[in-house]
Amino acid sequence: MGMNSEERLAFILDHYENPRNRSARDDADVVQKWGNPGCGDIVTIYLNVDDKGHITNVTFEGEGCTLSQAATSIITEMVIGKTLEEVESMSPNVISDIVGLEIAMNRPKCATLGLTSVKMAISEWRRKKMLDEIEEEKSLSR
Ligand code: FES
Repeated sequence: MGMNSEERLAFILDHYENPRNRSARDDADVVQKWGNPGCGDIVTIYLNVDDKGHITNVTFEGEGCTLSQAATSIITEMVIGKTLEEVESMSPNVISDIVGLEIAMNRPKCATLGLTSVKMAISEWRRKKMLDEIEEEKSLSR
């Protein structure tokens, strides 16, 4: 992204103070809560996926350190419109590319809480979909 360290810090702070896609929603396909044991910081992801496997909406709520909440805000902006596979294969490098390697390496759990939580929400979405398909098959074979 070509930011210097001062710009990176300002970018992180801006996402912390003005988080993007921060809301709780009743219309989410999946609501997934995840946190970091140890510090107790928490993120709840509200995820919607269309029938072609694209993420149509992600919002979040959370409580925690500046980096974890800012990085979650950043991640929500990155994943909307992507396929589930694309997001599942995203490595923590996507965060360190933005927040900077030094910050990400010093606090890897904070930096990746949002990405991990979105991946957990995707797993939950897949689990629910599979259960729905099984239920459907069962009702068809009755
Ligand atoms: Fe808990 Fe950063 S201190 S996620």
